[in-house]
Amino acid sequence: MKRFVDLGDFSREEVLSLLELARRLEKQPEPHALAGKLMGLVFFNPSLRTLASFQAAMARLGGNSFVINPGQGSWQLETRIGVVMDGAAAEHVREGIPVLASYCDALGIRVFAEGKDLASDLAETTFNAMASLIDKPLVNLESAVNHPCQALADWKTLDDLAVPRGGRLVLSWAYHPRALPLAVPAAALHMAALRGMEVIVLRPEGFALPAAIMERARRAAAASGGSVRETAERAEALEGADVLYVKEWGATDGYGDVAADRARRAALTAWCVREDWFAAAPECRVMHCLPVRRNTAIADEVLDGARSAVQREAYNRLPVQMAVLHQLLRS
Ligand code: CP
Repeated sequence: MKRFVDLGDFSREEVLSLLELARRLEKQPEPHALAGKLMGLVFFNPSLRTLASFQAAMARLGGNSFVINPGQGSWQLETRIGVVMDGAAAEHVREGIPVLASYCDALGIRVFAEGKDLASDLAETTFNAMASLIDKPLVNLESAVNHPCQALADWKTLDDLAVPRGGRLVLSWAYHPRALPLAVPAAALHMAALRGMEVIVLRPEGFALPAAIMERARRAAAASGGSVRETAERAEALEGADVLYVKEWGATDGYGDVAADRARRAALTAWCVREDWFAAAPECRVMHCLPVRRNTAIADEVLDGARSAVQREAYNRLPVQMAVLHQLLRS
């Protein structure tokens, strides 16, 4: 394996093999597997889990890491192509990223969607431009419309919870005061489809996931025996559901129009997950990638209750990323 940038680059069998390795490393630690190896972690956007779990994963395998937050203790890096650099950024990624890659054995990059031009975000323009500059092993730490490390941890969480392969997973939009990127919902949808699940995207009008994201998930579902559909009817979607995967994202009707998005979501504060959502799904578990705003996206009663699996998901970032690093840096 040379890169881990998209779960879609791997067959279902290859993903299952990575998960098996993650489980093996959980049970039989290999504290010297990556001795002498160094990973560079470049975060253009904030992180708690991804940052800490990658540093922990490298350390637990005997390797090391360094972290760059462009503009915070290092030069601010320009990502746009062809601009006149007379603003705050002192250096372009075209120089900065290859320099960083030359210091380490693998590089991880987090760069969120710009949230202005849907076609550009769907094409992963910024992440791919940086990826093309290096030939070292590369990990996507979350890009415009993808978060493969989260998706892999979520798949392991579903397995840990003994959720049936063909179980019903409802991916539900939830309220947030601001428009958030499509990376996690797109990755979770694709992951559940590739796992072979019955996936229902529950979202209000104006927040349908882009056709390209839905189509990709439908293709994965078709190959794995699963299904994908969408609805705005909560009761019907949740009836008998095994998992409610909660996520906040920005309006896709008028993508990038901040004022229109704000007006749309202002009427949707009731999309905060509460216990009464589960009347027809008593065994339903709740997943969220974190960070989550309590009593905004999910109520305390749900997050603190027995159906919440959010801590398990966050923990699983560590073993699955150890498996990814093992595959990237041992071969
Ligand atoms: N879920 C996730 O990626 O968390 P961070 O943004 O804290 O890394």
